Amino acid sequence: QTHLLGIEDLHPLEITMLLDRANVHAEAERGSRQHGQPLKGLTQINMFFEASTRTQASFEIAGKRLGADVMNMAMAASSLKKGETLIDTALTLNAMHPDLLVVRHPHSGAVKLLADKVNCAVLNAGDGRHEHPTQALLDALTIKRAKGRIHRLVIAICGDIAHSRVARSNIHLLGKMENRIRLIGPPTLIPAGAAEWGVEVYGDMAEGLKGADVVMMLRLQKERMDGAFIPSEREYFHRFGLNAEKLAHAKSDAIVMHPGPMNRGVEIDGTIADDINRSVIQEQVEMGVAVRMAAMELLAENLRERREKGAP
Ligand code: CP
Repeated sequence: QTHLLGIEDLHPLEITMLLDRANVHAEAERGSRQHGQPLKGLTQINMFFEASTRTQASFEIAGKRLGADVMNMAMAASSLKKGETLIDTALTLNAMHPDLLVVRHPHSGAVKLLADKVNCAVLNAGDGRHEHPTQALLDALTIKRAKGRIHRLVIAICGDIAHSRVARSNIHLLGKMENRIRLIGPPTLIPAGAAEWGVEVYGDMAEGLKGADVVMMLRLQKERMDGAFIPSEREYFHRFGLNAEKLAHAKSDAIVMHPGPMNRGVEIDGTIADDINRSVIQEQVEMGVAVRMAAMELLAENLRERREKGAP
Protein backbone atom coordinates (compact mmCIF):
# COMPACT_ATOMS: atom_id res chain seq x y z
CA GLN A 1 0.00 0.00 0.00
CA THR A 2 1.10 3.60 -0.73
CA HIS A 3 -1.24 5.17 1.85
CA LEU A 4 -3.46 4.01 4.71
CA LEU A 5 -6.77 5.70 3.86
CA GLY A 6 -9.24 3.08 5.07
CA ILE A 7 -9.82 -0.53 6.04
CA GLU A 8 -12.17 -1.12 3.09
CA ASP A 9 -9.24 -1.56 0.66
CA LEU A 10 -7.14 -3.83 2.89
CA HIS A 11 -6.86 -7.59 2.36
CA PRO A 12 -7.30 -9.76 5.49
CA LEU A 13 -3.66 -10.87 5.13
CA GLU A 14 -2.50 -7.24 5.18
CA ILE A 15 -4.53 -6.70 8.35
CA THR A 16 -3.01 -9.79 9.97
CA MET A 17 0.51 -8.71 9.00
CA LEU A 18 -0.08 -5.23 10.41
CA LEU A 19 -1.47 -6.60 13.67
CA ASP A 20 1.45 -9.02 14.05
CA ARG A 21 3.92 -6.19 13.52
CA ALA A 22 2.01 -3.97 15.96
CA ASN A 23 2.04 -6.73 18.58
CA VAL A 24 5.84 -6.84 18.44
CA HIS A 25 5.90 -3.07 19.10
CA ALA A 26 3.34 -3.47 21.90
CA GLU A 27 5.53 -6.05 23.63
CA ALA A 28 8.62 -3.86 23.18
CA GLU A 29 6.71 -0.92 24.69
CA ARG A 30 6.00 -3.01 27.80
CA GLY A 31 9.63 -4.10 28.03
CA SER A 32 12.80 -2.70 26.53
CA ARG A 33 11.16 0.14 24.56
CA GLN A 34 13.68 -0.70 21.83
CA HIS A 35 12.11 -0.57 18.38
CA GLY A 36 15.17 0.20 16.28
CA GLN A 37 14.97 3.46 14.35
CA PRO A 38 13.05 2.47 11.19
CA LEU A 39 11.82 6.03 10.58
CA LYS A 40 15.23 7.71 11.10
CA GLY A 41 15.84 10.39 8.52
CA LEU A 42 12.12 10.65 7.67
CA THR A 43 9.87 13.64 8.34
CA GLN A 44 6.36 13.08 9.71
CA ILE A 45 3.86 15.95 9.65
CA ASN A 46 0.66 15.70 11.69
CA MET A 47 -2.21 17.82 10.31
CA PHE A 48 -5.30 17.72 12.52
CA PHE A 49 -8.17 19.87 11.23
CA GLU A 50 -10.38 18.45 14.01
CA ALA A 51 -9.79 18.04 17.75
CA SER A 52 -7.94 14.95 18.97
CA THR A 53 -6.29 13.72 22.15
CA ARG A 54 -5.53 10.01 21.63
CA THR A 55 -4.86 9.85 17.89
CA GLN A 56 -2.63 12.90 17.62
CA ALA A 57 -0.61 12.12 20.76
CA SER A 58 -0.10 8.48 19.83
CA PHE A 59 0.97 9.27 16.24
CA GLU A 60 3.48 11.76 17.66
CA ILE A 61 4.83 9.31 20.26
CA ALA A 62 4.94 6.48 17.69
CA GLY A 63 6.88 8.61 15.19
CA LYS A 64 9.37 9.87 17.78
CA ARG A 65 10.01 6.41 19.26
CA LEU A 66 10.78 5.11 15.75
CA GLY A 67 13.22 7.95 15.06
CA ALA A 68 11.19 10.24 12.74
CA ASP A 69 11.43 14.03 12.84
CA VAL A 70 7.86 14.87 13.86
CA MET A 71 6.15 18.18 13.27
CA ASN A 72 2.64 19.02 14.52
CA MET A 73 1.03 21.62 12.27
CA ALA A 74 -1.06 24.09 14.28
CA MET A 75 -3.94 24.06 11.78
CA ALA A 76 -5.89 26.79 13.60
CA ALA A 77 -2.90 29.12 13.05
CA SER A 78 -2.20 28.02 9.44
CA SER A 79 -2.88 29.96 6.23
CA LEU A 80 -6.12 27.99 5.80
CA LYS A 81 -7.51 30.73 8.02
CA LYS A 82 -6.55 33.23 5.30
CA GLY A 83 -8.48 31.36 2.63
CA GLU A 84 -5.88 28.89 1.38
CA THR A 85 -7.52 25.66 0.17
CA LEU A 86 -6.77 22.20 1.54
CA ILE A 87 -5.14 21.27 -1.78
CA ASP A 88 -2.90 24.35 -1.84
CA THR A 89 -1.90 23.65 1.76
CA ALA A 90 -1.07 20.07 0.76
CA LEU A 91 0.98 21.19 -2.26
CA THR A 92 2.85 23.70 -0.08
CA LEU A 93 3.78 21.04 2.47
CA ASN A 94 4.62 18.57 -0.31
CA ALA A 95 7.21 21.02 -1.65
CA MET A 96 9.06 20.65 1.70
CA HIS A 97 9.47 16.89 1.02
CA PRO A 98 7.75 15.24 3.98
CA ASP A 99 7.71 11.44 4.06
CA LEU A 100 4.62 10.74 6.19
CA LEU A 101 1.52 12.93 6.44
CA VAL A 102 -1.00 12.11 9.18
CA VAL A 103 -4.30 13.86 8.45
CA ARG A 104 -7.61 14.24 10.31
CA HIS A 105 -10.36 16.23 8.59
CA PRO A 106 -14.07 16.84 9.29
CA HIS A 107 -15.09 16.00 5.69
CA SER A 108 -15.41 12.43 4.41
CA GLY A 109 -13.05 11.95 1.46
CA ALA A 110 -10.83 14.97 2.22
CA VAL A 111 -7.83 12.82 3.19
CA LYS A 112 -8.00 10.88 -0.11
CA LEU A 113 -8.24 14.17 -2.02
CA LEU A 114 -5.06 15.33 -0.30
CA ALA A 115 -3.28 11.98 -0.78
CA ASP A 116 -3.82 12.22 -4.54
CA LYS A 117 -1.80 15.47 -4.63
CA VAL A 118 1.33 14.54 -2.67
CA ASN A 119 4.25 12.16 -3.22
CA CYS A 120 4.63 10.85 0.31
CA ALA A 121 2.68 8.33 2.39
CA VAL A 122 -0.61 9.59 3.86
CA LEU A 123 -2.31 8.09 6.91
CA ASN A 124 -5.98 8.83 7.54
CA ALA A 125 -6.44 9.82 11.20
CA GLY A 126 -10.23 10.10 10.70
CA ASP A 127 -12.19 11.76 7.86
CA GLY A 128 -15.74 12.85 8.64
CA ARG A 129 -18.00 9.87 9.16
CA HIS A 130 -16.07 7.82 6.56
CA GLU A 131 -13.12 5.89 8.10
CA HIS A 132 -10.70 5.86 11.03
CA PRO A 133 -8.47 2.94 10.01
CA THR A 134 -5.87 3.03 12.79
CA GLN A 135 -8.69 3.04 15.38
CA ALA A 136 -10.14 -0.18 13.92
CA LEU A 137 -6.67 -1.73 13.82
CA LEU A 138 -5.96 -0.85 17.46
CA ASP A 139 -9.39 -2.19 18.41
CA ALA A 140 -8.61 -5.44 16.57
CA LEU A 141 -5.23 -5.77 18.31
CA THR A 142 -6.90 -5.18 21.69
CA ILE A 143 -9.54 -7.84 20.95
CA LYS A 144 -6.90 -10.30 19.72
CA ARG A 145 -4.83 -9.88 22.87
CA ALA A 146 -7.86 -10.20 25.16
CA LYS A 147 -9.66 -13.04 23.36
CA GLY A 148 -6.74 -14.85 21.71
CA ARG A 149 -8.29 -14.48 18.25
CA ILE A 150 -9.92 -11.97 15.93
CA HIS A 151 -12.38 -14.25 14.15
CA ARG A 152 -15.63 -16.10 14.95
CA LEU A 153 -16.56 -13.68 17.74
CA VAL A 154 -19.91 -12.01 18.42
CA ILE A 155 -19.22 -8.28 18.48
CA ALA A 156 -21.85 -5.70 19.46
CA ILE A 157 -21.26 -2.10 18.33
CA CYS A 158 -23.66 0.12 20.26
CA GLY A 159 -24.86 3.70 19.96
CA ASP A 160 -24.47 6.36 17.29
CA ILE A 161 -23.47 4.22 14.30
CA ALA A 162 -24.77 6.70 11.73
CA HIS A 163 -22.16 9.39 12.42
CA SER A 164 -19.28 7.11 13.38
CA ARG A 165 -16.16 6.57 11.27
CA VAL A 166 -14.98 4.22 14.03
CA ALA A 167 -18.04 2.01 13.46
CA ARG A 168 -17.52 1.98 9.67
CA SER A 169 -13.84 1.00 9.90
CA ASN A 170 -14.62 -1.64 12.51
CA ILE A 171 -17.47 -3.10 10.44
CA HIS A 172 -15.08 -3.43 7.47
CA LEU A 173 -12.30 -4.99 9.54
CA LEU A 174 -14.33 -7.33 11.73
CA GLY A 175 -16.44 -8.39 8.75
CA LYS A 176 -13.33 -9.31 6.72
CA MET A 177 -12.19 -11.47 9.65
CA GLU A 178 -15.48 -13.41 9.69
CA ASN A 179 -17.01 -12.20 12.94
CA ARG A 180 -20.71 -11.85 13.68
CA ILE A 181 -21.39 -8.12 13.97
CA ARG A 182 -24.42 -6.64 15.70
CA LEU A 183 -25.33 -2.97 15.54
CA ILE A 184 -27.46 -1.72 18.44
CA GLY A 185 -28.96 1.76 18.68
CA PRO A 186 -32.03 3.93 18.16
CA PRO A 187 -33.35 3.77 14.56
CA THR A 188 -32.43 7.44 14.01
CA LEU A 189 -28.75 6.60 14.69
CA ILE A 190 -28.52 3.46 12.55
CA PRO A 191 -27.78 4.27 8.87
CA ALA A 192 -30.46 3.40 6.34
CA GLY A 193 -29.40 0.24 4.54
CA ALA A 194 -27.19 -1.02 7.41
CA ALA A 195 -28.96 -4.38 7.28
CA GLU A 196 -27.36 -4.90 3.83
CA TRP A 197 -23.83 -4.64 5.26
CA GLY A 198 -23.82 -8.22 6.49
CA VAL A 199 -24.61 -7.17 10.06
CA GLU A 200 -27.56 -7.76 12.40
CA VAL A 201 -29.45 -4.65 13.60
CA TYR A 202 -31.11 -4.35 17.04
CA GLY A 203 -33.07 -1.55 18.70
CA ASP A 204 -32.87 -3.13 22.14
CA MET A 205 -29.70 -3.57 24.23
CA ALA A 206 -30.85 -6.70 26.08
CA GLU A 207 -31.55 -8.54 22.80
CA GLY A 208 -28.50 -7.28 20.94
CA LEU A 209 -26.02 -8.02 23.73
CA LYS A 210 -27.20 -11.59 24.28
CA GLY A 211 -24.13 -13.86 24.04
CA ALA A 212 -21.76 -11.09 22.88
CA ASP A 213 -17.98 -11.59 23.32
CA VAL A 214 -17.18 -7.92 22.74
CA VAL A 215 -19.25 -4.84 23.61
CA MET A 216 -18.07 -1.72 21.81
CA MET A 217 -19.69 1.53 22.96
CA LEU A 218 -19.78 4.77 20.91
CA ARG A 219 -20.54 8.31 21.99
CA LEU A 220 -23.25 10.53 20.47
CA GLN A 221 -21.29 12.47 17.81
CA LYS A 222 -23.28 15.68 18.02
CA GLU A 223 -20.74 17.59 15.91
CA ARG A 224 -21.84 15.55 12.87
CA MET A 225 -25.59 15.38 13.54
CA ASP A 226 -26.77 18.29 11.37
CA GLY A 227 -29.97 18.75 13.33
CA ALA A 228 -30.91 15.05 13.40
CA PHE A 229 -33.13 13.94 16.27
CA ILE A 230 -31.08 13.60 19.45
CA PRO A 231 -32.76 11.98 22.46
CA SER A 232 -32.19 13.61 25.86
CA GLU A 233 -29.00 12.26 27.47
CA ARG A 234 -31.00 10.92 30.41
CA GLU A 235 -33.39 9.03 28.18
CA TYR A 236 -30.51 7.84 26.00
CA PHE A 237 -28.62 6.44 29.01
CA HIS A 238 -31.74 4.70 30.21
CA ARG A 239 -32.26 2.88 26.90
CA PHE A 240 -28.78 2.56 25.40
CA GLY A 241 -26.22 3.45 28.09
CA LEU A 242 -24.13 0.45 29.17
CA ASN A 243 -24.54 -0.42 32.85
CA ALA A 244 -24.07 -3.64 34.84
CA GLU A 245 -27.66 -4.72 34.24
CA LYS A 246 -27.40 -4.47 30.46
CA LEU A 247 -23.88 -5.94 30.37
CA ALA A 248 -25.20 -9.03 32.20
CA HIS A 249 -26.86 -10.05 28.90
CA ALA A 250 -23.45 -10.46 27.22
CA LYS A 251 -21.15 -13.44 27.89
CA SER A 252 -19.75 -13.46 31.42
CA ASP A 253 -16.24 -12.88 30.02
CA ALA A 254 -17.28 -10.23 27.47
CA ILE A 255 -14.91 -7.27 27.20
CA VAL A 256 -16.05 -3.64 27.12
CA MET A 257 -14.49 -1.21 24.64
CA HIS A 258 -14.79 2.50 23.87
CA PRO A 259 -12.68 4.45 21.37
CA GLY A 260 -12.93 7.65 23.43
CA PRO A 261 -13.61 10.41 24.08
CA MET A 262 -16.09 8.92 26.55
CA ASN A 263 -19.18 10.58 28.01
CA ARG A 264 -19.75 8.91 31.37
CA GLY A 265 -23.40 8.64 32.30
CA VAL A 266 -24.51 9.06 28.66
CA GLU A 267 -23.37 6.01 26.65
CA ILE A 268 -21.54 4.24 29.48
CA ASP A 269 -21.71 4.03 33.26
CA GLY A 270 -18.43 5.18 34.86
CA THR A 271 -18.13 2.07 37.03
CA ILE A 272 -18.23 -0.19 33.95
CA ALA A 273 -15.64 1.96 32.17
CA ASP A 274 -13.32 1.69 35.19
CA ASP A 275 -13.88 -2.03 35.88
CA ILE A 276 -10.49 -3.56 35.11
CA ASN A 277 -12.05 -7.03 34.93
CA ARG A 278 -14.27 -6.03 31.98
CA SER A 279 -13.05 -2.78 30.46
CA VAL A 280 -10.10 -2.74 28.02
CA ILE A 281 -10.43 0.98 27.30
CA GLN A 282 -6.97 1.87 28.61
CA GLU A 283 -5.43 -1.03 26.68
CA GLN A 284 -7.03 0.36 23.51
CA VAL A 285 -5.15 3.61 24.08
CA GLU A 286 -1.93 1.67 24.72
CA MET A 287 -2.37 -0.38 21.51
CA GLY A 288 -2.87 2.88 19.59
CA VAL A 289 0.83 3.67 19.84
CA ALA A 290 1.85 0.17 18.70
CA VAL A 291 -0.55 0.09 15.75
CA ARG A 292 0.53 3.53 14.56
CA MET A 293 4.17 2.46 14.79
CA ALA A 294 3.45 -0.59 12.64
CA ALA A 295 1.41 1.36 10.08
CA MET A 296 4.05 4.07 9.65
CA GLU A 297 6.89 1.54 9.55
CA LEU A 298 5.23 -0.51 6.79
CA LEU A 299 4.33 2.56 4.72
CA ALA A 300 7.88 3.90 5.14
CA GLU A 301 9.29 0.58 3.85
CA ASN A 302 7.04 0.81 0.78
CA LEU A 303 7.96 4.47 0.27
CA ARG A 304 11.70 3.72 0.39
CA GLU A 305 11.20 0.88 -2.13
CA ARG A 306 9.31 3.15 -4.52
CA ARG A 307 11.96 5.84 -4.23
CA GLU A 308 14.73 3.33 -4.88
CA LYS A 309 12.90 2.52 -8.10
CA GLY A 310 12.95 6.21 -9.02
CA ALA A 311 9.60 7.55 -7.76
CA PRO A 312 9.77 11.24 -6.67
N1 CP B 1 -10.59 7.66 19.32
C1 CP B 1 -10.18 8.86 18.89
O1 CP B 1 -10.05 9.11 17.68
O2 CP B 1 -9.88 9.77 19.87
P1 CP B 1 -9.37 11.25 19.64
O3 CP B 1 -10.48 12.01 18.97
O4 CP B 1 -9.02 11.78 21.01
O5 CP B 1 -8.16 11.21 18.74
